[in-house]
Amino acid sequence: MRVSVLGLGYVGCVSAACLASLGHEVIGVDVNQVKVDLVNDGKAPVVEERIGELIAEVVAAGALRATTDVREAIMGSEVSLVCVGTPSEPNGSLCTTYLERVTEQIGAAVAERGGRQTVVFRSTMLPGTCLDLLVPILEKFAGGTAGVDFGVAVNPEFLREGTSVRDFFDPPKTVIGELDPASGDVVAALYDGLPGEVFRVPIPTAEAIKYADNAFHGLKIGFANELGAVCRALGVDSHQVIDVFLADRKLNISPAYLRPGFAFGGSCLPKDLRGLVHAARQADVAVPILSHVLPSNDAHLQRAVELVERTGRRRVGLFGLSFKPGTDDLRESPLVELAERLFGKGYDLRIYDPNVNLSRLLGANREYIETRLPHLSQLLAESVEEVLDHAEVCVVGTRDPAVLSALPHGDSPVIVDLVHLPDAEARRTEPGYVGLAW
Ligand SMILES: NC(=O)c1ccc[n+]([C@@H]2O[C@H](COP(=O)([O-])OP(=O)(O)OC[C@H]3O[C@@H](n4cnc5c(N)ncnc54)[C@H](O)[C@@H]3O)[C@@H](O)[C@H]2O)c1
Repeated sequence: MRVSVLGLGYVGCVSAACLASLGHEVIGVDVNQVKVDLVNDGKAPVVEERIGELIAEVVAAGALRATTDVREAIMGSEVSLVCVGTPSEPNGSLCTTYLERVTEQIGAAVAERGGRQTVVFRSTMLPGTCLDLLVPILEKFAGGTAGVDFGVAVNPEFLREGTSVRDFFDPPKTVIGELDPASGDVVAALYDGLPGEVFRVPIPTAEAIKYADNAFHGLKIGFANELGAVCRALGVDSHQVIDVFLADRKLNISPAYLRPGFAFGGSCLPKDLRGLVHAARQADVAVPILSHVLPSNDAHLQRAVELVERTGRRRVGLFGLSFKPGTDDLRESPLVELAERLFGKGYDLRIYDPNVNLSRLLGANREYIETRLPHLSQLLAESVEEVLDHAEVCVVGTRDPAVLSALPHGDSPVIVDLVHLPDAEARRTEPGYVGLAW
């Protein structure tokens, strides 16, 4: 394919050289004449493993050349990869100025050239940037309709500086956010033959995936470093701890605990986080990430309260009360906390949990609910139907099959979904459905 790459920084330069080595005819563009001259001399404008040799090779073979002229590049290509910088503004917001400028230039050149150009944004940008900001610019300057007269896709890149050439040929994944299937097909064809799973998704999803990845990578590093600092202060070998931690592929390095859902609780996680943070404080070790995990959890619980408040209705049915399915343990259950907040705000509440039925509760848990939660014990219903008859709003905190099959559809009662119901995707279009974080 004839490909133009706009922006010859780390991402553009590596993408241009690697695509040329895959057999595409590539023309690179940068506003910086020095970078353009370096590429045309067969030299790399960035320091990266293997990039020097690769650029020398593909330029000598005539597969890559560079220019400062966007128009010239668009005239000679049918697909354009936008790799310009998107730095932070002083207030932390994303600077889209370079994206906007280059999109205008591409649009104007596409209008002049005619024919279907596919514009692929590889720069990192927040969800909404492509469809709400850049597509209107393209439509204005190119004329015509995106997805019809020209293609648009978002193809975030996951290369690591230092090993980016190696990563290009062995990517962790390829993500293609496509406006229409034809746009996605063009991007898929660019990387034909490379290993790794290919995900074809809507454009805002592709934009968000890059942020999910980078936020998680930062979080992982911060977590490991804080844990190391606490271990050191407590006289424990942090690397030994992390070796064992990493060996656990069931609960630690795994999809466990990584899906948006409701707040956590129970008799262990809150207690042990508090204990660890307290120990760190006593040892004068700052652990901002660890010490904000419980406040983050509380903020999530508060979101559920606010969703109920926003319905404006007073008769609430809560399904689920124990801290997770299959247990009657109520200690530090976030659903108990939610029930208490709603009760405290004067909502007319009924609660059903198949595991927390007063007539079935035994020993410690019966005593717990009678002494610690007498106000809630009076609100417990014996059946799903009893709660449904009462509720104008159903707050669903359990995936119990009897509850799921009884939940009505439509606009009344309002369903506030805390567990991502199995049919959440279908319900999302229903007027009475509200998801907690989806
Ligand atoms: N560096 C990385 O490892 C990495 C990894 C993944 C994603 N990203 C993202 O990719 C994007 C590019 O990052 P980078 O590190 O390559 O940036 P960079 O600053 O190294 O390069 C950007 C290049 O774009 C050029 N440019 C700006 N406006 C232009 C225009 N109108 N026409 C042509 N060229 C223009 C600049 O001169 C510069 O050479 C950013 O959104 C970044 O967040 C970077």
